[in-house]
Amino acid sequence: MRVLFVASECFPYVKTGGLADVVAALPAALRELGIDARLLLPGYPPVLKALGEARPLRDLPPLPGAGGQGGRLLAGTAPAGGTGSADGSRAPGALDPAVPLYALDLPVFFDRAGNPYSGPDGQDWPDNALRFASLSAAAARIGLEGDGEGWRPEIIHAHDWQTGLVPAYLRFAAERAGADRMVAKRPVSVFTIHNLAFQGLVPPARLGDLDLPPHSFSIHGLEFHGKIGLLKAGLYYADKLTTVSPTYAQEIQGTAMGFGLDGLLRARARDLSGILNGVDLRLWDPASDPLIPARYDATLLEARQAAKAELRHAFGLGTLPDGPLFAVVSRLTHQKGIDLVLEALPRLLALGGQLAILGTGDKALEQAAAAAMHDHPGRVGLVRAYDEALAHRIQAGADVLLVPSRFEPCGLTQMYALRYGALPLVSRVGGLADTVTDVTEGSLADGSATGFVFEPVALTPLIHAMERAVALWRRPDLWRTVQHNAMGRDVGWAASARHYADLYRQAVMDTALSLK
Ligand code: ADP
Ligand code: GLC
Repeated sequence: MRVLFVASECFPYVKTGGLADVVAALPAALRELGIDARLLLPGYPPVLKALGEARPLRDLPPLPGAGGQGGRLLAGTAPAGGTGSADGSRAPGALDPAVPLYALDLPVFFDRAGNPYSGPDGQDWPDNALRFASLSAAAARIGLEGDGEGWRPEIIHAHDWQTGLVPAYLRFAAERAGADRMVAKRPVSVFTIHNLAFQGLVPPARLGDLDLPPHSFSIHGLEFHGKIGLLKAGLYYADKLTTVSPTYAQEIQGTAMGFGLDGLLRARARDLSGILNGVDLRLWDPASDPLIPARYDATLLEARQAAKAELRHAFGLGTLPDGPLFAVVSRLTHQKGIDLVLEALPRLLALGGQLAILGTGDKALEQAAAAAMHDHPGRVGLVRAYDEALAHRIQAGADVLLVPSRFEPCGLTQMYALRYGALPLVSRVGGLADTVTDVTEGSLADGSATGFVFEPVALTPLIHAMERAVALWRRPDLWRTVQHNAMGRDVGWAASARHYADLYRQAVMDTALSLK
């Protein structure tokens, strides 16, 4: 089976969150199952650099929004050894060299400094819709015509709003060709929702620039409250929809977490499934991680003491009181419930805890975290940065990793925490609910306890969970047992990759049947 992934980020070249980790790991896991998975990325400078001596494969005709410009499709394989992430720090590994990499070389859109969505001033690029429409159109072209070297995918797997137009372009191309034969030739589209909150809304005047037919601007199409919805296009036109955990797949079909798209998702329930993300164990395994002070596994947990000491130093925390070190590695946004952590801080400190926060995001939250550090020197530390290496060191040295999200499609940091023996303390939403088992008498007895889970997402339940965490921490034997449980969890990609492989087969079969 031939599958083309298309996405706007990929570790280690460009990363703003978990999407980049998934896009780097899943194609490699699929290749291990014998699936010919390949990856198309925008030709950002770090991607072109990684390709080195890239092979030009074909010219792409004028792309939507690119002012009549076409693009060049380049190919290569990523060299082993990464150049690091947004902060330029070196990170181990890289995109698996086994995964063939395509880049859309279109400098007018992708040769820019900053992160994929915003310039060095932090402002979103005003032409983001056009930039990612051109990427989506390029993917659809490869799907319909091939890569120029005779390879054509049977499935295109698109991710989040940036690539929501891929399924739409595939359908419209088939419509324009006006023949079922053409429809039969188009690849099947699979669209994965990593976060329903980001919808890619564009003024309707852009319809022509985006090369979208007028009839698509309808409630039965990609219109969303008077705008063009790029995410909605993916949800409406893809053959199959997935999201990144079973619980989130259910939650987004309700009004509370459906962001106005729950009706459409309910209508598409038969085509929607939730498949959990995994951990890329080539990068996130304390037994081999070069970014942490000392390697360890569940039999060598003492090594975590040195990592904790080093972490306290890095965050300017004292060695007293001898309490648990709570940590946050996160975008600092409303989604992630960081405001709740700061509200719970007096209690956390009264319990003898310390807090280390690594993150950037909303200015108000950054400032509130900075004020907390200022008010509690030696007890609260903040590193306001994106630092891949420090994220690893936190997983190795923290006692508790806090993820009190208001919603969480999957969440990767709590899974990294499980693997590293930092016990996750999470809200019972989305993928957090699916990956962490609350410590209770029952779960301690049957060996399933891996962390602390609270609900609803509010201050008092969060504080109770913190109290339970501190109480358990004061029982080192039990703490160690739960660490063992957590580290023994199978969090790798293999099982989920098999689910995707099954889904691809099903999607090809269903689409073929629907054309008969
Ligand atoms: P999301 O994608 O919603 O941000 P995830 O938990 O799925 O949440 O993924 C977040 C990813 O980004 C993880 O790899 C995490 O380690 C990383 N990350 C988040 N903030 C930072 C930061 N400030 N520095 C380094 N890594 C970070
Ligand atoms: C999104 C979600 C996060 C998920 C990640 C990768 O950024 O917010 O929960 O883990 O995508 O799928």
